[in-house]
Amino acid sequence: MTEEYKFDNSVELFKRAVEVIPGGIYGSKAPGFVIPGSYPYYFKKGKGCRLWDADGNEYIDYLCGYGSQILGYGYDEVDNAAAEAMRAGDLLNGPQPEMVELAETLTKQIDGMDWAVFAKNGTDTTSLAVSMARVHTGKKKIIMARGAYHGAANWCSTNVFPELDDRKDVLSFTYNNLEELCSLFAKHRGEIAAIILTPYHHPAFGPQIMPAEGFYERVKNLTKAEGALFIMDDIRCNFRLSLAGSHSYFGVEPDLITMGKSIANGQPISVLMGTDNLKSTAGSFFITGTFWMSGVPFTASLITLKIMQEVNLIEHLNRIGGMLKNGIRSAAADAGFKAEITGAAAIPFLTFENDPDLYINQVFCSEMTKRGIYLHPHHNWFISYAHKDEDIEKTLETAREAFKLTAAKLG
Ligand SMILES: Cc1ncc(COP(=O)(O)O)c(C=O)c1O
Repeated sequence: MTEEYKFDNSVELFKRAVEVIPGGIYGSKAPGFVIPGSYPYYFKKGKGCRLWDADGNEYIDYLCGYGSQILGYGYDEVDNAAAEAMRAGDLLNGPQPEMVELAETLTKQIDGMDWAVFAKNGTDTTSLAVSMARVHTGKKKIIMARGAYHGAANWCSTNVFPELDDRKDVLSFTYNNLEELCSLFAKHRGEIAAIILTPYHHPAFGPQIMPAEGFYERVKNLTKAEGALFIMDDIRCNFRLSLAGSHSYFGVEPDLITMGKSIANGQPISVLMGTDNLKSTAGSFFITGTFWMSGVPFTASLITLKIMQEVNLIEHLNRIGGMLKNGIRSAAADAGFKAEITGAAAIPFLTFENDPDLYINQVFCSEMTKRGIYLHPHHNWFISYAHKDEDIEKTLETAREAFKLTAAKLG
């Protein structure tokens, strides 16, 4: 039996936090998503695929800074270049040459995209994409898949001002349901500015869903016929399916794509890219933020993109992620669980049968985490280049124990 970790410092810090920070920790990092007291809340250090919390506990990490650490924490070549750029001056009065170089690199690398504008977070770019689609088409309504996450902005977030226009004008359909999608287009003929979709579906409370055969082809044809734009939100998947963009993996031709998270191995930068016919609309927008042109993330992104190509990243992620998926699937079955592990090899997610609120998932993930394997019960996992065979073997050994403990706890 592996000894369980203690989280005293995390609990103590959280107690202090709630006094001065509403809720203590926000978003999906909030303790409401895990079994309280059996999870770390604060972290001090990361290197490769390892993470250390505020109590000094060490983990093999499968969240990778919410996907951003695609090469692994503290990747020396990226961090050394970023440190040098920082010493030269990070935030000057205008962009640095690396911004031009990064736009040139991305427009060469990403299939079908002719221009790029940069921001900080994913939400900045999904919100920009939606606004651009509205301005370009002169229409207001946006269609998204039910349960999809595109950021924490008013137009797409679930808990803010549903009565405001930008929420009222967002329509939802069930991912892959073409009939429902066609009837939305028919019902709102002449009003749809865009449909926004992730490369495949990551609902908040269930298995991940791949696009059905022919789904994207129909979406593309529908948008074209109806004078709407097709936005692909590649923020979560980017560079884990294809280095040419996840749309290229699925053979899709969107009008706009958004990327963020892993593009600079943890440095804050996101990008909105588009096709040539949208360039003048994009050029007419007032796009800015005080920190949006700080130089370090551009340098980090250029190096990260270069390394991804050199190390044959996709092959590594597929092999290691495949090993994890197969091992978890058989460990769950051996312990008598009916469980599915869905999604791409590099972005897998485990769900149990009859677990609508993900409680079984919470128990399993806390048993893993207390034993040094960091998993989030309400978020898909991520594989990085730093995960090696021996990390997966250790993970699977712990999983066999954690599945048994979960079965015992659930009675
Ligand atoms: C698909 C998708 N879109 C948008 C976002 C928002 O990105 P950010 O958290 O950087 O604002 C996320 C974040 O998880 C995401 O997964």
